[in-house]
Amino acid sequence: MSAQNLSQLLDKMWLDYTAINPLAQKIFDTLTAEGEVLSNDHIALRTFNHPRISVDVLARPFLAWGYEEKGDYQFTEKRLYAKHFEHTDPKMPKIFISELKLEEFSPELRQTVDALVAQIPEGLELSNDFTSIGRPWNVSSEIYDTILKESDYAAWVAAFGYRPNHFTVYINDLKKYSDIKVLNNFLKEKGFKLNSSGGEIKGSPEVLLEQSSTLANNIEVEFSDKKRTIPACYYEFAKRYAMPDGKLYQGFVAASADKIFESTSKGQ
Ligand code: NI
Repeated sequence: MSAQNLSQLLDKMWLDYTAINPLAQKIFDTLTAEGEVLSNDHIALRTFNHPRISVDVLARPFLAWGYEEKGDYQFTEKRLYAKHFEHTDPKMPKIFISELKLEEFSPELRQTVDALVAQIPEGLELSNDFTSIGRPWNVSSEIYDTILKESDYAAWVAAFGYRPNHFTVYINDLKKYSDIKVLNNFLKEKGFKLNSSGGEIKGSPEVLLEQSSTLANNIEVEFSDKKRTIPACYYEFAKRYAMPDGKLYQGFVAASADKIFESTSKGQ
């Protein structure tokens, strides 16, 4: 059944996410067993800047249910544009939606994406739970490989479609593990692998945001021609620092996120 309100939508997104990223549930349970009560800093969604499925289309239910558009970002290296949305209730997770700038890619990639989008049943992208719907098109592993040559981000969207790319533990709310280094060390001791591309900790207190993440877990995906095991989702951890006015910074840091997007790159 389609989500009727925000909490139903967020629950659906978490269930869908943990179903393909059981590691996130394991980390959630591990920290909960330590007496921590986890809150979620942000949920990240990925798409293309195609008019049917752009950031603004994906944002519709969130805007209808109390979110407001806040920052926007350019990721030059990854050729992405993104916006983040905050709810009027600050306890609700921020929603971070990025879109691949198709015009910066080859005509072949653009045609491939157009053909995928053309398979989406008319109007499906306007349903309230489009962001937990999964892959709304058929795609072969051959096409996945062709897309992957140009962009691992585009290949991820082609393979997984519409579902959270990651949820994010809000470190500030933790008691024992409110220092990102202490948290990272604890997770590594417990056997979880962190993304070390660009250093384990992206950002710094000076840029008001520190983040780390697990590596994406590999899962078996059913393509139209065969099954393949490919990187899926990761779990992220974010620590926020106060601005000169004393309020915690709520934005994102483009330079750090360029690196963190690599958590779903192949070969890591
Ligand atoms: Ni993130």
